[in-house]
Amino acid sequence: MAKVTIIGAGQTGATTAHWLAQREFADVVLIDIVEGMPQGKALDLSEAMPVIGSDAKVLGTNDYADTAGSDIVVITAGLPRKPGMSRDDLLAANSKIVRNSVEKSLDVSPDTIFIILTNPLDPMAYLAMKVSGLPRERVVGQAGILDSARMRTFVAMELGVSVQNIDCYVLGGHGDDMVPLTRHSNVAGVPLNKMLSADKLGAIVERTRKGGGEIVGLLKTGSAFYAPSAALAQMVEAILLDRHLILPTSAYLEGEYGHEGIFFGVPVQLGRIGLEKIIEYDLNAEEQSELDRSANHVREVIESLGIE
Ligand code: APR
Repeated sequence: MAKVTIIGAGQTGATTAHWLAQREFADVVLIDIVEGMPQGKALDLSEAMPVIGSDAKVLGTNDYADTAGSDIVVITAGLPRKPGMSRDDLLAANSKIVRNSVEKSLDVSPDTIFIILTNPLDPMAYLAMKVSGLPRERVVGQAGILDSARMRTFVAMELGVSVQNIDCYVLGGHGDDMVPLTRHSNVAGVPLNKMLSADKLGAIVERTRKGGGEIVGLLKTGSAFYAPSAALAQMVEAILLDRHLILPTSAYLEGEYGHEGIFFGVPVQLGRIGLEKIIEYDLNAEEQSELDRSANHVREVIESLGIE
């Protein structure tokens, strides 16, 4: 079976392990700096496997040697937001954690593919690529599946239609200036603006942009983890099973959408090599200018990292 390491055995990391082990995609290693906690969660999850009929093995550890030979390394290690914080407020603390996680895991898994989740997402994925020295195929970030899933959820709530009929595309940086593409989003092929009034659609766009903050405000300690971890599991599946699945993904741009040298949320075809290709939509002037605004914001935060 394939091997997936999840760095950070907190809310998101442990729940990702849950989805992966349940679906028998891979053996999972959960690693954290806190002693005993990853071991305890992994043992608990292992003891669930006989009940649900999965032979996936789940190991908890504090030692990177146990992560050796991982096909995929998922990084969720870091601090989550508190109410009133933006994702960018996590930059200093989480940079150190992500740098350390990449260096230690790459040492023992030189052929791995990284999926980054730690916020601020696009700058952390950039940092991971620079620290690892890997090509862009092997470092991707998760944000867009989550943002798109939030929008799909809100459309389903409004229309009473199955979530399976709803396709939404949220691109751009993983911040409050993300870009929900309403013109490309649809319900069973019917564009959203034919199904919803401009007011309702505007409210859904706004709620999507603030979707992470809405959960932080409700939870008060910690941020969302069920939907983020489900999104991570979908990316792991697309890569391990070589699905050639197109998913909104944070990827290193080399001129796509008019930008280069930043990580940014765009549709990416994922397969066993990681990033196979970036899909480019035809955007109108308004959509392009919203994307440009979001890209400029991401670039500023990346530049503040001070790495080439
Ligand atoms: N190495 C490994 N694990 C670490 C390290 C490190 N250097 N530093 C912190 N951790 C662990 C913590 O011990 C904790 O168990 O990362 C875990 C983070 O888990 P939670 O606090 O539950 O946070 P979570 O909700 O999972 O979010 C993690 O994802 O959505 C983003 O903004 C969020 O950046 C945050 C990350």
